Amino acid sequence: MKTRITGTGSYLPEKIISNEELAQWVDTSDEWISTRTGIKKRRIAAGETAGEMAARAAKRALENSGTSSEQIQMIIVATCSKEQCFPSLACQVQKAIGAVSAAAFDLSAACSGFLYALNTAHAYIRAGIYEKILIVGTEVLSDLVDWTDRSTCVLFGDGAGAVVAEASEEGMDGFVQYADGSKGEVLTCKGRSRKKFFQDGEEDGKPEDSYISMNGQEVFKFAVKKVPECIEQVLEQTGYEKEKIRWYFLHQANSRIIRSVAKRLEEPEEKFPMNLMEYGNTSAASIPILLDEMNRKGELVRGDKVILSGFGAGLTWAAALLTW
Ligand code: ACO
Repeated sequence: MKTRITGTGSYLPEKIISNEELAQWVDTSDEWISTRTGIKKRRIAAGETAGEMAARAAKRALENSGTSSEQIQMIIVATCSKEQCFPSLACQVQKAIGAVSAAAFDLSAACSGFLYALNTAHAYIRAGIYEKILIVGTEVLSDLVDWTDRSTCVLFGDGAGAVVAEASEEGMDGFVQYADGSKGEVLTCKGRSRKKFFQDGEEDGKPEDSYISMNGQEVFKFAVKKVPECIEQVLEQTGYEKEKIRWYFLHQANSRIIRSVAKRLEEPEEKFPMNLMEYGNTSAASIPILLDEMNRKGELVRGDKVILSGFGAGLTWAAALLTW
């Protein structure tokens, strides 16, 4: 059995912050942000939690696929910005949508989270364990960003995207996924520091560790090398020629990364849809939000071959080739 995406949904918070607005409190400009990243604005959760956004995106995906919440057998939520250690966001989504029969867990692979979750769902479906799985990517990265650090705060946004994945004759044709923990320090968010109960002395960690910290140029180099490599691998694994691929849905981090990947693959940029101009980098949510937009515009037709690729902290990266 293969894994087919039968429905998509997304939720974006209403609050919009443009580059011009950002430039009012950090030393930056629309010109710098646009030329370096392609980003023009981002959505910011003003009250909505990652769990609430996930549940809204999930309801829309269920509606779109014509699946009832009771039919869902497993929920995987990919996120790196949940507000609490437990219960998991997946359990919060289960409650909110009434998916009473579903097992539920969160998955942490940063900006590769949606791909890792999709590949995990596929493994369950291929093994014959489940037939209907809900996958959500949701992020409130505005909580993890130091809004006085111009090198990171201009890049990120909030939102959620979801898909229903079902067992089918057609669907996932192949995938690859990787991690390189030795490069973990390139992109980190160490979380709130806490004094350890059984350890004397100062709190471990400094306050600045609480925020996203990134070596932008290293991330750039990593992405433009590994993404084309893993896309080539998934093409080789499945035996499809690049000409057969209708769309490449890449993690929406930076338009320069996406253009560079297109160039390295010798594929036209038009095959690489982008919405990062509107939403910034929404980490695990970026690919399902983009899929939902393209699906609702009627740009995804049953039978289309599409490649998805995520890359991010860990470092982690992955690609999948699907028949839509
Ligand atoms: N506005 C104005 N100037 C800025 C800003 C800003 N927002 N941020 C940094 N600068 C300045 C720096 O201080 C530096 O000034 P200096 O030369 O006087 O020291 C100058 O701009 C150049 O800084 P660099 O960091 O070298 O800028 P670079 O050209 O590398 O662009 C960027 C930075 C956009 C982050 C780039 O490295 C990049 O695209 N990296 C990819 C990383 C990425 O997209 N990460 C997203 C998260 S990770 C993920 O999703 C996988």
